[in-house]
Amino acid sequence: MTHVEPLHVLRRRTSEKWTAYPEDVLPMFVAEMDFPLAPSIQTALAQAVASSDTGYVNPHDNGAADAFAAFAHDRWGWAPSSDSIRYTTDVSVVIVESLRRLIAPGDGVIVTPPVYPPFFDLIPEAGGVVVEVPLTDDGESYTLDLAGIDRALAAGARSVLLCNPHNPTGTVHSRESLAELSRIVERHGASVVSDEIHAPLVHRGTDFTPYLTVSEEARAHGIAAESGSKAFNLAGLKTALFVAGSDRMTDLLRLLPDEVTFRTGLFGLIATREGFAAGRDWLDSTVASIEDNFRMLDQQLADHLPGARLRRPQATYLAWLDLSALGLGDDPAGWILKNAKVALMSGLAFGAEGAGYARMNLACAPETITEAIHRITNAIAS
Ligand SMILES: Cc1ncc(COP(=O)(O)O)c(C=O)c1O
Repeated sequence: MTHVEPLHVLRRRTSEKWTAYPEDVLPMFVAEMDFPLAPSIQTALAQAVASSDTGYVNPHDNGAADAFAAFAHDRWGWAPSSDSIRYTTDVSVVIVESLRRLIAPGDGVIVTPPVYPPFFDLIPEAGGVVVEVPLTDDGESYTLDLAGIDRALAAGARSVLLCNPHNPTGTVHSRESLAELSRIVERHGASVVSDEIHAPLVHRGTDFTPYLTVSEEARAHGIAAESGSKAFNLAGLKTALFVAGSDRMTDLLRLLPDEVTFRTGLFGLIATREGFAAGRDWLDSTVASIEDNFRMLDQQLADHLPGARLRRPQATYLAWLDLSALGLGDDPAGWILKNAKVALMSGLAFGAEGAGYARMNLACAPETITEAIHRITNAIAS
């Protein structure tokens, strides 16, 4: 189990999670972890500080790319070549810079809400227009609406921004659905940018499928966005990877200006390398703690808030909560922040499908979850 420092120690942090709200608010909104960094990352960063190793990144240093490729091989049976990997600051930049090269200004780009809110901004930033094809929700699980995506591509959309595993639902798309998606996209001569930032956080018993492994078609038209920033809590260190799986996409990545790589932080490259290479035990124990937290939250809801429903995820630490039966309106997170002093992400930020929902961050101590449910239950009771 990965041990978490008490709240008064966590509050010394200065990241967004710990500074956005006053001290009486329990922060469970933005996707940052309360877990301490993996020991291998702590040691490598401490050494870098001790030796004042704070210069520019060497874009030809393959350390982080090789470590990611070895991780992808060992965990997912995928062997991307480090020649087909390029660094940049973050996954958002991978998405924007990839789309800029895959679409023309004004082209439609498909997103599958409820989905990570910045997708709605990154597409216009790249010159595209957001086309929504919501996930299919059968009440139990969420899946890609492949027929809807086919129709949207037939109507002119030129790319799909895939979220796999999906934030906020924690859905891990099946190999079959991704292979079918690749055939549909190829038939329309379109492309896919696959955001796989949550992939290392897949729960035990679920297999993650990298998009570029599903077919020749996927490799021909896809770019994957990979990162250690969610799995190892490195968002502030600013490093992510573009990954290509075909000559065509590798050539496209070669056209990226050098500055796209030079803006990466050296500490990010060091931490990414150490996470993927030597942080695997830490990661496994962290995922086990996250799974325990989901079980605990489920039990807490059953015991104290039976009207609330946790949508069971297969990956990551984000709990997608259906609170529509609690009578708190379309934006329960707003009500809860005001009345219970717990900061969640509003479901509405993820698209219209998020009405009545909120997202809770479970990368925390079990006591934080108990406290949150206690605060929410008390606020509703009064
Ligand atoms: C699906 C998804 N993509 C991208 C990001 C942001 O990644 P980055 O900080 O590397 O831009 C997040 C952050 O939570 C995310 O959940």
